[in-house]
Amino acid sequence: MGKYEAENPGYVMAEKRRILGVLVSGLGSNLQAILEACAKGGLNASVGVVISDKKEAQALDRARQFKVSEVYLDPKASDSREAYDQRILKELKRHTVELVILAGFMRIVTPVLIRAYRNRIINIHPALLPSFPGLHAQRQALVYGVKVSGCTVHFVDEQVDQGPIILQTAVPVLENDTEETLSERILAEEHRILVQAIQLFVEERLELQDRKVVIKELR
Ligand code: GRF
Repeated sequence: MGKYEAENPGYVMAEKRRILGVLVSGLGSNLQAILEACAKGGLNASVGVVISDKKEAQALDRARQFKVSEVYLDPKASDSREAYDQRILKELKRHTVELVILAGFMRIVTPVLIRAYRNRIINIHPALLPSFPGLHAQRQALVYGVKVSGCTVHFVDEQVDQGPIILQTAVPVLENDTEETLSERILAEEHRILVQAIQLFVEERLELQDRKVVIKELR
């Protein structure tokens, strides 16, 4: 315990805020949830940089509103998916990012990024994986006729949407649901479990045992 802490009972050393890099492609509502949690103290982290493959992504506006560095990387300026990920990696390193969040990011990341951030890339998927991987997961759930769907936060590895699962939550599918109404109900839960998963990472409470993620008690 430091001298100041000893003389000031109740002083809690503000732990170093972990630096996040958030990759986005669209609306950015998951980014918004992260930015608000960082600002309000619900998340002991800060967003170092927001990177998008879409110049007009509303998520970039949200980053600017929070005065967070934001970068548009044009995929057409790279001659391969690997070269594009090298550019992402350069930005992440420049902002000393420790944890990468794919928040509505619509590109598949390559081993270039996965190897550089092994078990430090988190994705949010709007279904209960391994059900309904890939695009339009909410529509897949409706078409299949499931009574319960939900969302999943998982680590990203080389198999798309198959990385170790960190958190999941169930969301009921209602009789008169449309893709829009179901997506909206799931999205609210995405925001909640994504922030929760990042906080667990920040608290170093996520332990990988083979492909199972064990959540350790707070020390
Ligand atoms: C969310 O459902 C997310 O799971 C999916 O894209 C949707 C929009 O995300 N990948 P956001 O509002 O851009 O965060």
